[in-house]
Formats: sequence, structure tokens, C-alpha cells
Amino acid sequence: MPSFQLYLLFFLGITVVSGIFLEKSVSYSSSSSSEEHHHHRKPHRHHHHRPHRPKSSSSSEEYRPRPHKPRPPRPPTPKPTPKPTPTCPSDWMTFNRPQGTWCVKVFYTAPVLQVTAQQLCQGQGANLTGVQDANENAQIAAAARVVINQNGGGQAEVWLGASRKSTCPLRTSCAPLYTFDWTDGHTTGVAGFQWAPSEPNGLIFPTPYNPHNWGQQMCLDQLISGNSDKTLFGYPHGSMDDTHCQKSYRLYACGKRPS
Ligand SMILES: *[C@@H]1O[C@H](CO)[C@@H](O)[C@H](O)[C@H]1NC(C)=O
Repeated sequence: MPSFQLYLLFFLGITVVSGIFLEKSVSYSSSSSSEEHHHHRKPHRHHHHRPHRPKSSSSSEEYRPRPHKPRPPRPPTPKPTPKPTPTCPSDWMTFNRPQGTWCVKVFYTAPVLQVTAQQLCQGQGANLTGVQDANENAQIAAAARVVINQNGGGQAEVWLGASRKSTCPLRTSCAPLYTFDWTDGHTTGVAGFQWAPSEPNGLIFPTPYNPHNWGQQMCLDQLISGNSDKTLFGYPHGSMDDTHCQKSYRLYACGKRPS
């Protein structure tokens, strides 16, 4: 059966040739399978990125101190500085009154009315001063004595800031301590009224001995002696007297709050 053998040889040849083509097709499919390896590499790339993530987390740890930066030192530093205690000018006396510090100075001038002395004090940002207590009265008298002794000495009067109450026109109208009011806007109480004996006597001019038509004694002065304890009328140095505002005196005491 040579023909059958030939068929076998023919089919064998076809089989071999087809097998060669099949191998080539298989080689192409294998090359395509190599592309699948690239897909597997991608997850490996992710593994390489993972170590970078902890680095970024470590960098986030560097930012952790930031919330500690707004520390509480700032609130204590801007403390409002306490207001400095106001002080009187160096050439003014300082009186520490219950109602606050008060500054007083005695001035010398050519003889002036009480209203003029008040204007002179206002020119210094002050008023004619009242007297808070006996200690202040003694200090003002001592200062006035120094000033008058620098200007010839002798006896003198100091204008102070007080006014007779309209309800106390006569000597018998009111008790001595309640006859005048302080007018400086700061002095309080009656302890500062250091009246001379028998004062305030409430003289009303004119009298048989004084022709001036001055009416009541609406003002108050402090009597000063430069070289002895005796003053006008024999009153003690530093004592007070009610007087006519129309008189002219050479000394006046100004008072003001410290600035
Ligand atoms: C002067 O006294 C008046 C009250 O008579 C007061 O209102 C004023 O504030 C005083 N001025 C000074 C500078 O103390």
C-alpha cells in the first residue's frame, strides 16, 4: 500500500509544517505574556513608595511641635502697667489726704484782693487752697514764714480758699467750725479750721472804727509772723481769721491735684 504510505508521508509533512507555524504562533503568545510581567512590576513600585510614606509621616512629626509654639508666655507679658503714682512738683508741698494727694505752695506778691489771688492760683492750674487738718495748717504757716522772711519779714496774711456760708452772717449765727466752706473742690471736713481765739467774729463794715462799706467778712486768711509767735491782734502764728475779701494781702496759698 504505497499510496497509503504516501498519504501518511504527506500528512506527516503537513503536520511538521503546521507544527512549525504553530510554534511561531506560540512564540508570539509568549511574547504577549511577557507584558503581563510588567503588570506584576507595578505592585512592586507601590512597595517602593511605601517606605516613602513613613518619611512623610516623620516629616509630620516635625510639625507636631507647632501646637506647642503658641505658648502661654504672651498673655503675661502684655500686663497693663499700673499707673504711676502722681507726684507734686518738687517745689510744692505734698499732702497725703484721705481723699487723695494734694499739692500746696505759698506765693508772695504785691498786695492783692482775694479774688485776684484766686486768679493767680488758677493761672497755675490751681485754686486758693483749703486746709484739711491742723498738720497742714502748721506746714502752710511754716512755708509762709519762710516766704515772708525772704521778702522783708514782719507780719503778713495768707489768702486761703474758703467762703463764709450765707446762712452764717453773724458771729452768733453758727458754731465757729461750721461758719465757712472750703472752696478748692478737694478739702473736706472742718478739722482744718484753726481759728484764732474769739474768731470768726463776723465784723460788718462800716463800723465806728472802719469807714469802708465792705459788709460782712466773707473771706478767710491765715495770720503769719516772720520772727515771733505773735501776729496781728496778738493772735498765734498760723491761726485763722475771718476777713473782708476787699483787703489786700501779700501771701496766698495755692492747691492742686498732682499731675
Ligand atoms: C477749683 O475749685 C472748683 C470748685 O470750687 C473745682 O470745681 C475745680 O476743679 C478746682 N480746680 C482745681 C484746679 O483744683
